[in-house]
Amino acid sequence: MSVWHVTGGRRLEGSVTVQGAKNAALPIMAASVLAPCETELLNVPLLKDVDTTVRILRGLGCAVSRDGDAMTIDSRGLSRAEIPHSLMRELRSSVIFLGALLARCGEARLSMPGGCELGPRPIDLHLSALRALGASIEESGGDLVCRAEKLKGAQIAFPMPSVGATENAMLAACAAEGETVIMNAAREPEIEELQLFLRQLGADVSGAGTPTVTVRGFTSAKRVGHRIMPDRIVASTLLCAAASAGGDVELRGAEPRHFSTVLHSLSECGCDIIERRLSVRLRSGGNLRAPRPVITGPYPAFPTDAQPLMLAACLRAAGTSVFVENVFQNRFRFTEELCRLGARIHTEGRVAVVTGVPALYGAPTVATDLRGGAALIIAGLSAEGRTDILDEGHVSRGYELFDERLRELGAEVMRED
Ligand code: UD1
Repeated sequence: MSVWHVTGGRRLEGSVTVQGAKNAALPIMAASVLAPCETELLNVPLLKDVDTTVRILRGLGCAVSRDGDAMTIDSRGLSRAEIPHSLMRELRSSVIFLGALLARCGEARLSMPGGCELGPRPIDLHLSALRALGASIEESGGDLVCRAEKLKGAQIAFPMPSVGATENAMLAACAAEGETVIMNAAREPEIEELQLFLRQLGADVSGAGTPTVTVRGFTSAKRVGHRIMPDRIVASTLLCAAASAGGDVELRGAEPRHFSTVLHSLSECGCDIIERRLSVRLRSGGNLRAPRPVITGPYPAFPTDAQPLMLAACLRAAGTSVFVENVFQNRFRFTEELCRLGARIHTEGRVAVVTGVPALYGAPTVATDLRGGAALIIAGLSAEGRTDILDEGHVSRGYELFDERLRELGAEVMRED
């Protein structure tokens, strides 16, 4: 349990480096067990979810060592294909091990990940993709046992794009005989990143970033090296904070084309944005106006993970800001906490309407989830007085040394454990 103390009213100024992407690192770490080899990763963020994935890898029999942002995974000693319930509960995205273990061992045992703070999180699309590749799946009492003596290439047409299901299908398809075509695949940059990694591992994969991904098996490499891409949601968080508090911030090592929808909305709010390859700079007087409606959806639409951040940035924006959440059913819980600071937010189903207020006032609040917690920090930075955020560890699941990073930009933020 930690408490964030955020004192608002300071402009954010300066330059910071964006951490490696959590949502790229986790599936790549899972992919490292596909074949017996040594994987060297760079720019791995220091996060709770990464720590949990390391524990999963070690539990499977892999040797993992870390030195700062570098990580080596030796999966040659993998001896088990089972993930205990205690670790599954901690990390929903550990379901990506399903495809990787099935490919490596012909078997995977884990428990159903269940719902989360954002509402129900079904994995039916993951399971139907694995079944299409020839896996048999038994579900009983929340446990999943997947088996396949031999995986066979197949045509998989998803009814909707799912990031995790696309990743699981890609991983399992690597070990399948023949060609697999994944249609209506998710197009997120993290899928392209997984393709890059799989190619290094020796996989014949193409099409990531488009709706059709094709996998034609692989011949395993002995050793691979890969640098994790920058985190587009962390970059969006820092920019939303500077936009609403006011400031002049440069993000080094960011990839602006990965979050162009967020940059577009911020510039509609009146921010001045300069994009370069691998950096972006934002200048804001802190006096924003409401952007056009922000409508989340699968990439390349506005990312659902950035919705709470953008909403927090718009609390004092002149006019009415509208947010439509199309990805997760229950992603406005954090708005009740924002209202404690004096924000005016009305939610109805998938829509939230924010009426800009002249000022926010610091108050005690509770982080409801990872991005909801980050939204409270953004709001606290532009509020008068001090905001305390009680956090059960949500924010550190996705942000590396976030208090330090914000202090580098001149913010008054303390984290107490
Ligand atoms: C990933 C990201 C998460 C992000 C989300 C959407 C990781 C580790 N996490 O999560 O941060 O918020 O993408 O961009 O990369 N769905 C089904 N059945 C399934 C799978 C998904 O109905 O079998 C639904 C989900 O309930 C949700 C939608 O599809 O409504 C999108 O989910 P999905 O893209 O799968 O998200 P994740 O991969 O879980």
